[in-house]
Amino acid sequence: MSRWIAFLSCLAAVSCGRQVAPAPPSDSNLPAVRYEAHIVAGNVAPHGVELTNPHNADPAVAKRGALMFTAMNCDGCHGGDASGWVGPSLSDGRWRYGGADSEVFNSIYYGRPKGMPAFGGALGVDGVWALVTYIRSLPVPPTVPTESWPEP
Ligand code: HEC
Repeated sequence: MSRWIAFLSCLAAVSCGRQVAPAPPSDSNLPAVRYEAHIVAGNVAPHGVELTNPHNADPAVAKRGALMFTAMNCDGCHGGDASGWVGPSLSDGRWRYGGADSEVFNSIYYGRPKGMPAFGGALGVDGVWALVTYIRSLPVPPTVPTESWPEP
């Protein structure tokens, strides 16, 4: 009983340091990416890596990503400047699947279930990082169409 109380209070406590589970066996096929936006049960994060963008906000790479955004017809679904169309805006600071580099990478590389194709096979790792660099370089405007306004 007391172990359960300790467990639950640890879940509730914001200040608890996050532990990481021991590495799975090397022949494991478990996915290797750890999501920043996910809630971690029992404060023990699953084993996994955090992907880091090798281009680190390089403007030349962001420019290459912008060209790819048009060439690969991302803007056909996400609109010009990624401001939203049939696909969600990628420049309003709001994310369904997380806006960290690794999360945006996974959205593009593996796709997402409600209509986002997986581009990893077509573009490769470096192509997807160029798109991530472009998307993360977009400034969030002060007002966005997805904002909710209070009733007058
Ligand atoms: C056929 C239409 C279509 C195309 C083409 C497309 N997307 Fe998407 N994309 C979507 C839809 C729809 C979603 C929402 C998926 C969901 O909610 O599961 C999405 C989601 C995303 C997300 C996650 C957004 C979030 O809020 O977490 C990213 C990032 C993204 N797309 C980037 C891209 C990039 C980069 C390209 C071009 C390489 C691209 N998309 C091409 C339709 C598209």
